[in-house]
Amino acid sequence: MKDVNTPSIRDTLGLEDAFATYVFDESRVDLSGWNSTHAFFRALLEEFKPKLILELGVWKGMSSLHMAVQSKKLGLGTEIVAIDTWLGSSAHLSSKGRRAELSPRNGYPTLYETFLANVHSKGMQDVIIPLPMDGNSAAYALKRLGVKADMIHIDASHEYDACLNDFRNYWDLLADDGVLLCDDYGIWAEVSRAVCQFAAEVNRPVWTSMAKAIICKDPSVGFDLTLTKRRKIKVL
Ligand SMILES: C[S@@+](CC[C@H](N)C(=O)[O-])C[C@H]1O[C@@H](n2cnc3c(N)ncnc32)[C@H](O)[C@@H]1O
Repeated sequence: MKDVNTPSIRDTLGLEDAFATYVFDESRVDLSGWNSTHAFFRALLEEFKPKLILELGVWKGMSSLHMAVQSKKLGLGTEIVAIDTWLGSSAHLSSKGRRAELSPRNGYPTLYETFLANVHSKGMQDVIIPLPMDGNSAAYALKRLGVKADMIHIDASHEYDACLNDFRNYWDLLADDGVLLCDDYGIWAEVSRAVCQFAAEVNRPVWTSMAKAIICKDPSVGFDLTLTKRRKIKVL
């Protein structure tokens, strides 16, 4: 359960309540995403019991919603800061036919409307806090505000440089006993290369199961062979 004495991250960040005057538009509900219910989410929630999760790359909100629903089931009192421009990725310009996925109106994407409708439809407005910013600016601001997250899920850019930059930026926002979860490992070659490069830079092992990769901040923390339970690992 959420501790009523602990200030919400929304207040800490000085953010308005995105749902305070929101009028639900059922026609915008579209509960589709990518790898949004991967088993690692539930395993990490159980093992790390995060109070604060940062998610970079939210899209229609399906992974945020999955973490919100699961953490509520576990009674963790978790809040999730959902960071996205809601403007899509490079593929929405470079891949034929994908522009329509952003539901542009007057030439500007309206994806955020779908995100809001989805969160409202699942009743998770109290624990999912949208932060509509680019990943770089958000990381900079969150660092300045002294935010430390227990878990971070990164699922934004698929390009090597941008992805590596995200890992470097958000690592600083991760608590000393926190966990970083990266999407698209083994799916997108450039993301996979960025995960490996980053893991080498911070000298940490990577635990993977198709599409997701886990990197723990504490070098002595790893996973058992079922990839569901934490265990101590050897650090030389
Ligand atoms: C693959 S989708 C996220 C999917 C989502 N996690 C799910 O489970 O359905 C990638 C998202 O990253 C966002 N994105 C890409 N680059 C970004 C950046 N530099 N800053 C913020 N958001 C970004 C896009 O707008 C898009 O919504």
